Formats: sequence, C-alpha cells, structure tokens
Amino acid sequence: MGVIIEPFRIKTVEPLRFTTRAERERALAKAGYNVFKLRAHDVTIDLLTDSGTGAMSAAQWGALMQGDESYAGSRSFERFDSVVRDLTGFKHVIPTHQGRAAERILFHSTLQPGDVVINNIHFDTTRANVEYEGAEARDLVMPEGRLPAFIHPFKGNMHLEALESVLRGEEGARVAMVMLTVTNNSGGGQPVSLENIRAVRALCDRYGKAFFLDACRFAENAWFIKQREAGQHNRSPKEIAQEMFSLADGCLMSAKKDGLANIGGFLAMNDDALAQKCRNLLILTEGFPTYGGLAGYDLEAIAQGLVEVVDENYLRYRIRSIEYLAEKFLAMGIPIVQPAGGHAVYVDAAALLPHIPALQYPGIALVNSLYLEGGIRSCEIGTVMFGLHPDGHETAAGMELVRLAIPRRLYTQSHIDYVVEIAAAVKEISWALKGYRIVSAPPVLRHFTAEFEPLRARAVPVDVS
Ligand code: F0G
Repeated sequence: MGVIIEPFRIKTVEPLRFTTRAERERALAKAGYNVFKLRAHDVTIDLLTDSGTGAMSAAQWGALMQGDESYAGSRSFERFDSVVRDLTGFKHVIPTHQGRAAERILFHSTLQPGDVVINNIHFDTTRANVEYEGAEARDLVMPEGRLPAFIHPFKGNMHLEALESVLRGEEGARVAMVMLTVTNNSGGGQPVSLENIRAVRALCDRYGKAFFLDACRFAENAWFIKQREAGQHNRSPKEIAQEMFSLADGCLMSAKKDGLANIGGFLAMNDDALAQKCRNLLILTEGFPTYGGLAGYDLEAIAQGLVEVVDENYLRYRIRSIEYLAEKFLAMGIPIVQPAGGHAVYVDAAALLPHIPALQYPGIALVNSLYLEGGIRSCEIGTVMFGLHPDGHETAAGMELVRLAIPRRLYTQSHIDYVVEIAAAVKEISWALKGYRIVSAPPVLRHFTAEFEPLRARAVPVDVS
C-alpha cells in the first residue's frame, strides 16, 4: 500500500498558539524548569501525553447527548457495560474516573504490606499505588526490553524464566499478582505477544496467582500482534484483543488512551468476591457502581470510543503515524527506542547527551531544549520519574528516555514535520546542553511537581587549531 492517510476529515478546529523564544524562556523559568508546570497556553505542540488529549469523533460527541445522568442504573451504564463485556469478556465491569482510581481500588482490595506485584514494567502511577499499600512493584520485562536500540517485535514481553524463578522460589508466596502492561508504556510503548500472554497465564495457573492486564493501549497492542505474530494476520484487532483479555483474570483500564475519551477508566474482573470488595471501595470515593466517578455522557463517549478504536483503518494510520516520526528521527541520527512504540517515540537521552550524567537528568535537559527551541512539550521517563526510592535514596533509572507521545487523531502530518524540524535544531546544539539539579520535590511522583535549576554552563571546547 502507498501513502496511509488520516482516516478522517476535520470538522472542528482549535487554534494553535505560537510564542517567541523570549516568551518560552520566561515561561520555563517560571515553571521551575518542569514542563508539567507550564501553562498549556504557552505550548505550541503538546506531546506531553497521549492520555485524554485525543480528538473525539462526531459519533462520540453525538453520543454525549445521549448521556443518561440518572444516579443509579442509567441507560448509559448499560451501554458502557455491554460494550466492555463484549470486548473483554469479564463478568464485572466497574467504572472509575480514570486508570489510577482503578489501580488504587484493585490494589487496596488485594495487597498486604510485604506483597510483591510483578509486571513487565509498572507505569509510574501503578508503581506508586502498589508501593502505597506497602507492597513491592517488581519489573521483569525481557532483558531486550531495556536495550533501546535492540530490535525485537515484542519488546514488552515478560521475562518468563525470571518470572518462573520468582514464583517457584522462596519469594513465590509473597507474589500477590502478576500483571502485563499492554503496550509497555515505560519500556517504549512496546507490545506483548499473544504467545507471551499465554505463557504468563500458564505460569499463573501453575503457581495459583491472579493475572491482570493493564490494558490502557490494548488496541495498539492487538494491532502489533496482527502485524507481527505468526498466524495472527487474518484476525481482526477486536478478535485478538478479545483473546488477550480472555487470558487474564481481570484488567485495569484508562479510557483516556484506547478508550478514545478525554476522561474515564474501568476495572473489570471475573471474581465475584473481589468485585464486591472493589465496589464497596468504589462507593467510598468514586461513586455508585453504575457511574463510578463519571458522568453518564462520559460512559457514552467511552463506549463509542471502544468501538472505534479497534477499527483497522484507524489502527493502521495510528501505528504508521508514530513509525513516520521514528523514521525521521533515525534518519537524522537521533537515537530512539526501536522499533517505534504504539503511541509515542522515545528518544534515548542518555545516548544523545552522553556528557550529562544520569543524576543531572539528561532527559530534563532534552525536554527543556525541545520546548525552548520550538514550544514542543514532551516528557522525561528516566531518573526523575523512577530514580527516587521509597526509602528516599536516589539511583539512576535503567533508561533515560524522553517520550514524545502522540495524542490520538489530534495532529496532522505537517505538525509532525514541524516536530522533526525542531528536533533537528536540538540535535545541532545537543553537545552544549547542560544538566539540572532538583531544587524541591515531593516524596512520591516527584516528576509532576519537582522544580529544577540549570547547572552552570559546561566548558565549551576551545578550538586551538
Ligand atoms: N497504566 C498505564 C500503562 C498508563 O500509561 C497510565 C497513564 C495509567 C496506567 C494510569 O491511567 O492516567 O488514567 O490514571 N498514563 C498516562 C501517560 C498518564 O502519560 O502515559 P490514568
């Protein structure tokens, strides 16, 4: 096939704001050199996250008007419940206001201090919610999943030998749950194969462990399976997704990603007693079990989004648009996690800025440079996000990545070409970028609110020739 075009036309537009370099310098300093603290007004292309930032379809906006705002038993919940059950096959569907609420409810209902949760790589809020219960969040992605330049079709796969050795060993009794994050966001948006999901299921059966999917990007994962896994090419993304869910005991979902909605999430499972426990907790903080912190219209938008997200034309365009940006970066010699992820391109900041040590946050240096050069907002996934341990000590994270997450259906190819142009300018000056030090930070999830200070200029090499 030739050019893959956006499989939609645009009905509503929103102006972009352009800023001067002086304005960006002032805005960044005011934000404590943390782009999370910028006003979105001061950002031109916002690649901070693909979460809740996508464009809804006309059918979703239309569905909003169908919202039934009854406190209990609303028609919108019935639609939501039937779409989620058709897709996942799980018996109990518990709406939540977003993914992390589902995490808190599931972990508070299942974990005891000292327990271990195993995942390919926990996302930051998932890890924080596990640790908040006094349990340990352990990452056992396959070793290749931590090598940015290593090409493998399913770099999000669980390291099965490592998983089995924990389950079989002394610590096995402490493992409360095994999870797979599809796609593996913190490891570069890399997919997990069906074969790996089946193998994790088999190990969980052998050792009597519960197995949950963190399913935020299940449709992107299903598309990769369709493209890359032997024997899957003729199945629809929905059929593949249904099999993925059928292998788990339940799932956590942020509908802000593959729900194609601006807010929402759910928790789904088969276990009746656990579902009851989760619903009791839901009522305490989220709401009645038929709305769980969402408006009836949100439930409608998510139900429609879950139908649209498994469309082949959408997924082909979605995955191709990320690959397009990745190809441009590679062509200009910007090191990235390969192959391209499903929702983002992850630049290897450690390789691009080898002169900045991990504890001087090369990812922050790159993020801030992309903003200063062109008003692009991206996100560090490195030592600032993962380097601080619950006991307060800090170590380098396994990888120093900068994620350029592409919101769904939001930007066109020329926006992406602009990002490429700015990245080229950053690459030119990369040797001169400086590290940062943290001036203030909270004890958990520090990347959201920490403030930084640029370190003094590194010595400029003098040409004596
Ligand atoms: N799990 C994964 C894999 C995620 O990527 C996220 C959110 C969550 C759970 C939590 O969901 O935001 O709805 O509470 N990821 C966003 C991101 C924030 O930018 O990657 P949430």
